Amino acid sequence: MTVTTPSVPVHRALPAGFAWGAATAAYQIEGAVTEGGRTPSIWDTFSHTPGKTENGDTGDTAVDHYHRFRDDVRLMADLGLTTYRFSLAWPRIQPTGRGPASQAGLDFYRALTDELLSHGITPVATLYHWDLPQELEDAGGWPHRDTAHRFAEYTALAAEALGDRISTWTTLNEPWCSAFLGYGSGVHAPGRTDPADALKAAHHLNLGHGLAVGALRAALPGASRIAVSLNLHAVRPLSDHPDDLEAARRIDAVGNRVFTSPMFKGRYDEDLLKDTAHVVRWEELVHDGDLAEISRPIDLLGLNYYNPTVVSSAENAKNLARHDGHGDSPHSPWPGSEDVAFHRANDDLTAMGWPIDPTGLSDTLTALHREFGLPLLVTENGAAFEDVLDADGAVHDPERIRYLESHLGAVADAIEAGADVRGYYLWSLMDNFEWAYGYGKRFGIVHVDYATQKRTPKSSARWYSQVIRRGGLA
Ligand code: FCB
Repeated sequence: MTVTTPSVPVHRALPAGFAWGAATAAYQIEGAVTEGGRTPSIWDTFSHTPGKTENGDTGDTAVDHYHRFRDDVRLMADLGLTTYRFSLAWPRIQPTGRGPASQAGLDFYRALTDELLSHGITPVATLYHWDLPQELEDAGGWPHRDTAHRFAEYTALAAEALGDRISTWTTLNEPWCSAFLGYGSGVHAPGRTDPADALKAAHHLNLGHGLAVGALRAALPGASRIAVSLNLHAVRPLSDHPDDLEAARRIDAVGNRVFTSPMFKGRYDEDLLKDTAHVVRWEELVHDGDLAEISRPIDLLGLNYYNPTVVSSAENAKNLARHDGHGDSPHSPWPGSEDVAFHRANDDLTAMGWPIDPTGLSDTLTALHREFGLPLLVTENGAAFEDVLDADGAVHDPERIRYLESHLGAVADAIEAGADVRGYYLWSLMDNFEWAYGYGKRFGIVHVDYATQKRTPKSSARWYSQVIRRGGLA
């Protein structure tokens, strides 16, 4: 792809050294699910279960990145990305979730990172983007405490083998989704629907994060940086009515503070424990020493942001339609929040039905800066639209450019307000397997023809490339 350096002046420069990235995840792009000794993960099982994904789509082939990674890295280099966030597949590195590392698994990620480094692209590895080895799910999954220890063991293997070439690591991606969509509403793998299991999973994900931070610190060189990526909900009450404020408090507790308080304050908040006391026995779940483990200091906080979350009390809602953007299920992913209704923030929607509102991003970054004072990364942000390949073979996606431009503007706003935001990873580099939505939802700035695996940069890719070369927005 040829990109000419534009002469348009930069009106909103991002700070020097700002990391310009794109993100992906292993199961969404790699394919090659039986190669190199990889064993099935919960997403293989789930996607192969009839009725769980749109059209029965699976990640069996995905975008064949496992075989095409060199071309994909060249594409990233052409775009001018300075950094790339990807995930390591646990069942590739430690098949079955126990025992020694697989040489073939490590070799794949060594080759990928070498390719990135040789193009001057800084690799950022996520250790867990939802692909739990199926054998560990069979042994109880995240509601089972031992899974946290298994995660730390896998982390040590990955860090020992790859720590010489990957200096920024993210432990978990969106543990809220793993716990509450995976074990609460069941719209994500493993598709279980028990609110107590969802809360147990949340605690064990927190514990796994803390243990993994310990394993990373022990294995990595001193200058390495450790992060976590959270999809914190930008929660807004529908009105100032006390019942709506109460609904917002509840969702903030079980959507956000269930992770941030143990990780950054070494505690579970009293209101969360009270709201969910009828669901789970916290005093049995949380063992002595867990909170000290979970709150080990980290270097960066990653925020994944797509849209705000507007809530009211059920009584103040015209109907109980659940527009929480997290997929349909008769089972709620919000334990203890049966009286909360969810509303769309506005009617300017992406193809996911998610409202477009960049102020949720600037507000959240600013609030995180004030509350935790940590350097921040936007580890995911982007949008799906109904992209079409023109007769001339091009994809014009002005809506995506508008989305990205307004959200990068929100990042610039947060920086101006004092937040220390170090980088932005657009979701996603290329179209891929969008979990339960299958291949129907396209988030990429690069179009993929799934029949031929042909990659075609969309107009948003050219736009992003120019933003990167300019170092800011025109
Ligand atoms: C996030 C996931 C990511 C992708 C985007 C659209 O919740 O982390 O894998 O599916 O949503």
